[in-house]
Amino acid sequence: MFVNSLLAAAFFTLAVNAGPALSVEDAQLATQALSFLIQAPGECLFQYTDLPANAPSHNMAALWLRAIFHDSGTFNASDLTGGLDASLVTNPESGTTDNIGIPESAATRFIPSKSPISKADMIALGGIVTVAACGGPQVAFRTGRDDAGVSNNAKLLPSDAFAPVGTIKAGFLRMGLTALDMLVLTTGSHSMGGAHAAISPNVTKEKFEPFDRTPGVFDNDIFKRVLDGKCVVPIDCAFAKDPELLPYIQQYAKDENAFFTQYAISFEKMLNLSPSSLSDPVAIMIKRHSNLVEEGTWPPASAASTTTTVSAVASITTAGSAAKSSSAAADIFLLSSVIYALATTLLLL
Ligand SMILES: *[C@@H]1O[C@H](CO)[C@@H](O)[C@H](O)[C@H]1NC(C)=O
Ligand SMILES: *[C@@H]1O[C@H](CO)[C@@H](O)[C@H](O)[C@H]1NC(C)=O
Repeated sequence: MFVNSLLAAAFFTLAVNAGPALSVEDAQLATQALSFLIQAPGECLFQYTDLPANAPSHNMAALWLRAIFHDSGTFNASDLTGGLDASLVTNPESGTTDNIGIPESAATRFIPSKSPISKADMIALGGIVTVAACGGPQVAFRTGRDDAGVSNNAKLLPSDAFAPVGTIKAGFLRMGLTALDMLVLTTGSHSMGGAHAAISPNVTKEKFEPFDRTPGVFDNDIFKRVLDGKCVVPIDCAFAKDPELLPYIQQYAKDENAFFTQYAISFEKMLNLSPSSLSDPVAIMIKRHSNLVEEGTWPPASAASTTTTVSAVASITTAGSAAKSSSAAADIFLLSSVIYALATTLLLL
């Protein structure tokens, strides 16, 4: 709880100090600072402890990916409605079963009420940081998404675990995405986290059932599970019966880089669906967690990974000093580093 309040305080400070008009350089520094806060210790873990006990899921990383899918998955490419517009936050589509558990859970809790970038950009950034920090590919981050004032039609989300493959394909097609995008964004994203009885009672009766053997690592293990017919979510195994998709599942099970390459392409497409005009890629530095496999393998190892958090703080401090020649954003950056280090220390106690 302490850590949560500190992170919230850091976001608040960032928002107040950053002001509305940022230079490109300042925007980069502020974005970098925010991205470090998203990389809170333990983010890749499937049992992230710094969340309220009643949160349906404690899979911080999986929750960022879920938030992105649930926010952008209502996009209609024909009339350009929906898309990644933070409607999950500003006007939750949470009353429906499709979005159950979203507002209470991690991802959107870490979005500041004010920041130099929009809430939709924050959600995109959360996903990009998550994928890279937890072992996956780095995806370009662009800013400029507009936050929606109205709620999207959550019924458009192609998320039914039991639907025929054709129904899900049609949903992705409506979003302007291909069957291959569908495969990597659905099954591929199941590389992180697992199913929860509190969210998906028809999928699992367990409090937490990991999708693959490494629910805290972004890797290709999920495709190996699918080929072995060991699917927690039925749609993943249904994809393997589709002659168009099976060769990709076989390839990704053997070749992790091939999966990463396609995931980066499809993920960026999904992040950038919204019609607002986006900036050039913003340079951000994302540190990969160092003890990923120990942290992220199921069942969990007993010891917490002290080395990961300590080295993360060291790298932030270095990056922070390098930035000191710049103006206000550098102060924000350094301040956030200090708060982050403090938060980390508290977590270790
Ligand atoms: C998408 O937009 C088009 C054009 O407005 C509309 O005809 C179609 O019904 C929409 N699709 C869905 C699933 O709402
Ligand atoms: C779960 O299954 C029941 C019975 O088949 C069905 O009525 C219900 O709509 C399903 N719930 C979800 C969230 O899919």
